[in-house]
Amino acid sequence: MNEPQAARILDGTVVAQEVEAEVAAASARLPFRLGLAVVCVGNDPASEIYVRSKAKKARELGIDGIERIFPDTLSEAELLDVVASLNEDDAVDGILVQLPLPRRIDAQKVIDAIDPRKDVDGFHPINVGLLHLGRRALVPCTPAGVMRLIAATGEAIEGKHAVIIGRSNIVGKPMAALLLNASATVTICHSRTRDLAAVAREADILVAAIGQPLFVTDDFVKPGAIVIDVGMNRVEAGFAPRLAHDAGKSQLLAKNGSVLVGDVDFARVRERAAWITPVPRGVGPMTIAMLMHNTVEAAMRRRG
Ligand code: GUN
Repeated sequence: MNEPQAARILDGTVVAQEVEAEVAAASARLPFRLGLAVVCVGNDPASEIYVRSKAKKARELGIDGIERIFPDTLSEAELLDVVASLNEDDAVDGILVQLPLPRRIDAQKVIDAIDPRKDVDGFHPINVGLLHLGRRALVPCTPAGVMRLIAATGEAIEGKHAVIIGRSNIVGKPMAALLLNASATVTICHSRTRDLAAVAREADILVAAIGQPLFVTDDFVKPGAIVIDVGMNRVEAGFAPRLAHDAGKSQLLAKNGSVLVGDVDFARVRERAAWITPVPRGVGPMTIAMLMHNTVEAAMRRRG
């Protein structure tokens, strides 16, 4: 018998660079300057880093990226005023309000207030509805990025069984809609699913988006599947025994005191899958690239 081949790695940095090159070319070609506003409220250092890196990436691609960072004391009414003024500003093509928002602010109310034509996150109910109807929509960035990664394998989606683990509004549900629109047979699993591993083993395309480190092990995976890992979990020294089989991650953990891992046990699953995304350098870079892509898309449609 032949030795099974380890999976091919789907490198998100490479595919993201292709998307970013398309965006830079579009922004150079358009007769107007593109504008993207990213809004952050509160003192969460991680959110602030995300917001600054999104605006910076925009500027690298020739888009006017502006970050609006507000203190935790900003009221819901004040945030709604900020959104209203960005809606009215013709130089702004895309508006992103970084989540999570402080608890006293109703995030849904804020999302609902964004002009759907500028909703580059694709979270507004109008865009959610259009996506689920299979109509042209601004599509949430992470699932849109996953579709680009699947396309990069060169494998067709039509007729394949796609299993998504996780039912969030940001990833799981829009992921299901996109794969269904591409004529996959789609199953969504979640915390109440019975015998989740058995359902996952049916998947030709398996998308893990649950936020639980190393949740997906090799017995969740059909040989030859495409495995996409949306998880980003920072784990610390207590996690070392669960990484003992992964020399690379174990070394990083020992050296740095923490290490980033996905929802998929990469070291085990790569022995079974045909394609797999690593963490980091998998889905992560695609999310920001697709945000830039959505900004171009939003501008071209709104400005005709
Ligand atoms: N927080 C985590 N992911 C996202 C995202 O895709 N968009 C926004 N706005 N906030 C997030």
